[in-house]
Amino acid sequence: MALYAIGDLHLHFQTDLRAKAQLKDRVWKNHEQKFRRNCDSRIQPEDTLVLAGDHSWGRNLAECEQDLQYIADLPGRKILLRGNHDMFWDAKKTAELNRLYAGKLNFLQDNYYPYGDYALVGTKGHCFEGPFYLNRLGQIVGWSEENEKRSEKLVARETERLRTSFEAAKRDGFRRFIMFLHFPPTSILEDDSPFTRMAEEYGAEQVIYAHSHGESRFYDSIHGEKNGVRYSLVSGDFLRWDPLRIL
Ligand SMILES: [Fe+2]
Ligand SMILES: [Fe+2]
Repeated sequence: MALYAIGDLHLHFQTDLRAKAQLKDRVWKNHEQKFRRNCDSRIQPEDTLVLAGDHSWGRNLAECEQDLQYIADLPGRKILLRGNHDMFWDAKKTAELNRLYAGKLNFLQDNYYPYGDYALVGTKGHCFEGPFYLNRLGQIVGWSEENEKRSEKLVARETERLRTSFEAAKRDGFRRFIMFLHFPPTSILEDDSPFTRMAEEYGAEQVIYAHSHGESRFYDSIHGEKNGVRYSLVSGDFLRWDPLRIL
């Protein structure tokens, strides 16, 4: 039995992406085929694969059906986290998605999934992404305070959801946790955050996050060990479409 994770598949079987810049980078060429091949060679039916958000470019569930079917057809048990691009996933309708895709896909929000004696907990998360104002040397000298305020509200809401997830697992007797976020746990201005502090509070052994695309963004947040928690970025382009083994 093994636990794998990857994020940001940004599938688009039903969406025309000509207007989007993302796919210009070579790493995205035929990424669905590369990922499928890697999954087929690694993941066994008894394994679990966590997909850490940004599954599809579709704007509603009807536009995501083929993308979600592609994920359902991958080997192993699939657990999905909500990403900022997942417009098909209304935060209030997670239970409905779980009913709709019962036996195929598992949606993680305000709940948890067991993995051996671990609880897999998580939420979308949030971090402040600017805009930042730079001086001539490229150093940050300021940022949009309006966006910062909005961002603080989103962080507060998401930490509440994360606590709901931890508490649900704790109530059922779980004491070992792997924590998943879509957004990085910290913004580029921070060394820690409400998310890292919650990981430490509950004694999460690992924090897995995605969302950061492109060489220049891969190291925006924490990699490796910090205060007893191991942090890993699993965005698909960072992993070159090879899911990371977590346990
Ligand atoms: Fe993404
Ligand atoms: Fe994202």
